[in-house]
Amino acid sequence: VSLKNFNTFGIDTRARYFVEIAHETELTELFADPQWQQTQLLVLGGGSNMLMVNDFDGLVVRMNIRGIEHRISHNDVYVEAGCGEVWNDLVNYCVSHDYAGVENLSLIPGSVGASPIQNIGAYGVELKDVFNSCRAFEIATGTFREFNKEDCKFGYRESVFKAELKGLYIIVSVKFHLSMVPNINTRYGAIEQELQNRGISNPTIKDVSQVVAHIRVSKLPDPSTIGNAGSFFKNPVISAEEFAVVQAKFPEVVNYPAADGGVKLAAGWLIEQCGWKGKTVGHTGTWKNQALVLVNHGGATGQEVYSFSSQIIDSVYTKFGVTLQREVNIIS
Ligand code: EPU
Repeated sequence: VSLKNFNTFGIDTRARYFVEIAHETELTELFADPQWQQTQLLVLGGGSNMLMVNDFDGLVVRMNIRGIEHRISHNDVYVEAGCGEVWNDLVNYCVSHDYAGVENLSLIPGSVGASPIQNIGAYGVELKDVFNSCRAFEIATGTFREFNKEDCKFGYRESVFKAELKGLYIIVSVKFHLSMVPNINTRYGAIEQELQNRGISNPTIKDVSQVVAHIRVSKLPDPSTIGNAGSFFKNPVISAEEFAVVQAKFPEVVNYPAADGGVKLAAGWLIEQCGWKGKTVGHTGTWKNQALVLVNHGGATGQEVYSFSSQIIDSVYTKFGVTLQREVNIIS
């Protein structure tokens, strides 16, 4: 099976086996067969945060469980969505019903089921801010388990599902805790600026959603026309001591305070300073408006994108002494 249409990078690799799951019971049935317990697995949602480097000699499980339900209790709204719902459809559902909390996360590509795995975030909000719990299937035992927020150990683009529980569970649904009373977050400068441009001083969540969508469209390539997986690297977090060294040499270095006294650097800035912004190398390159996004200009192989990303890591390290970590999952 070709995976070209199942990864937003549009990389044309193949999977040996492929199955689509639309109901929980199909998962139980699938893994009741011992053959699949022994096969290498790749669980796919929207395929928007991965780079396929080789053909996959195993079973791809495409999660397509649908459905959105909500329960209102005073000012709280609990929205539970199947893992296969498109993330932005969920956002639109919430924004149109005036359920506040996910509006800053408008237009993030991918599925609901993938959202907790890397604690998706943008424009001042992270998934963990609206996460209530999720339900997941344990492959080894064939049972379902509930994870609350603490269980998930969320961090910056991190969770337990990327760390100690990696590959052990498949998320089937996610429950969000939203509010009937909006808590408008426009701390991210570009939102404030765009609201001002539009003459909006008391924004609704619809306004915020529209402004975020506008900013994203202007900065980020649309995966339906230019293959990409959003930010390819994480923004590196370094210690205050390491930061002092970088800043002494590059006083204009873009930085933000991070947890535990650390400093977060803007990877896009580091990459741009190395001269990579908008560069095309073979069939790949970085996006003209955002150097942190690697793109497939058409016909790129996973190997090609991967090698290019290694070149970027090397040059950022040489110039700044900072090691970039890939944010996308590398499947090889
Ligand atoms: N910058 C440059 N050159 C570039 C790109 C960025 O100098 O080519 C500078 C910008 O001027 C700005 C700073 O870097 O001062 C930060 O840029 P931006 O606001 O575009 O955000 P980012 O840090 O590059 C992160 C997330 C994005 C998210 C945005 C907005 C990560 C790895 N990326 O990007 O998330 O949309 O903030 O909140 O944390 C994703 O994870 O796939 C993703 C797109």
